[in-house]
Amino acid sequence: MQNKIAIVGVGKLGLCFALNLERSGYEVWGIEANLDYLAELNSGYFESVEPEVTELLDATTNLHLTSDIDCLTTESITDIFLMVATPSLADGGYDHTQVERVAEKLLALAPSTTPRNVYVGCTTMPGYCNQLAEKLAANNFTVSYNPEFISQGAIIHDQLYPDQVLIGEANKKVGDRLEAIYQRMVKNKPVYCRMDPLSSEITKLATNCFLTTKISFANSIGDLATKSGANPDKILAAIGADSRIGPKYLGYGFGFGGPCFPRDNRALGKFGNQMEYPLRLSMATDLVNDEHFEFQLQEMLNANSPEAEIVFNGVAYKKGTSQITESQQLRLAVALAEKGRKVIVRDMPEVLVQIGKLYPNLFKLEERVSVAD
Ligand SMILES: NC(=O)c1ccc[n+]([C@@H]2O[C@H](COP(=O)([O-])OP(=O)(O)OC[C@H]3O[C@@H](n4cnc5c(N)ncnc54)[C@H](O)[C@@H]3O)[C@@H](O)[C@H]2O)c1
Repeated sequence: MQNKIAIVGVGKLGLCFALNLERSGYEVWGIEANLDYLAELNSGYFESVEPEVTELLDATTNLHLTSDIDCLTTESITDIFLMVATPSLADGGYDHTQVERVAEKLLALAPSTTPRNVYVGCTTMPGYCNQLAEKLAANNFTVSYNPEFISQGAIIHDQLYPDQVLIGEANKKVGDRLEAIYQRMVKNKPVYCRMDPLSSEITKLATNCFLTTKISFANSIGDLATKSGANPDKILAAIGADSRIGPKYLGYGFGFGGPCFPRDNRALGKFGNQMEYPLRLSMATDLVNDEHFEFQLQEMLNANSPEAEIVFNGVAYKKGTSQITESQQLRLAVALAEKGRKVIVRDMPEVLVQIGKLYPNLFKLEERVSVAD
């Protein structure tokens, strides 16, 4: 097995993966198109909010961060992970433009007699990896799908201790190769779920759809319990104690948000529409998330007098991260403030800066000592 690996796109996900591969003994090339960010990474002063990233980056001896994709040829690298961004489109699908740009560059590389293997780590619409494979076959590349199941705020840890490694393999040989890369990197014994690329693309979206469904279920039962004067937490704890169900993602709290759950759920719904199999669950899950937001807003308006200060201890979409994408906590804070309530937002400076720009003068902002508070 070759000891060299490349990652194209060393953003939030790709950088962590590059660091984990490097510390497990690989020589890693991180290829990054954003030159300012690249300079920051190479400056020796880069600081990440993700735990362990700053320290691991400082300790690297075999990580090369470059903008030059030709290193794939000059270094004869045959294992290439793509971790560029795939933003959501207005219709709920994924925009593969950044992947397409990388594909054009791969096609322009000097031809290789040895097959080179592309592993797509980005979230894609089901069917996309097969299309990409047809395109890249012209320059002797295989294409497999290999998404990550990680949580923001624990990316390094989650990559080292995955429950499952999802491999949508181009063929058995490539699947064996990818499994061997993970076996060397991970520190536990995950289940290797190997299948064709299309099935793995559906699996990735369906896994997150299941979790959003579970969260929406918990919140609707919680709302019903609250409305009827029962105890939501006791009810959900009892349901979660059933080993067929389990307690994870079954608490009563804020709706789901963040950069993955809502969009993966919608993308699966969009794929269902494309296949003329409307996926009612994905739609209902989204709808319930909105209804729960309205329920919580009303509860907060009722529970606080118009003069009272309402304090939000953290408005990132979950504790341990500075991401506010589709945060239901922030959505509530904004709705309350826009209804004339006095809202205090306490969070990390990284979060306060983002909020200050998005909503100048809407809240009183106060700094928290740590995201774990
Ligand atoms: N961040 C997460 O928690 C997470 C979790 C699961 C899945 N994903 C998926 O992983 C993918 C990457 O997500 P992310 O959050 O790391 O995105 P990101 O925006 O943080 O990083 C993407 C990086 O790719 C770089 N890039 C773009 N085009 C490039 C090119 N042509 N050549 C080289 N570099 C290029 C960008 O400059 C950026 O640094 C997405 O598809 C996302 O849906 C992310």
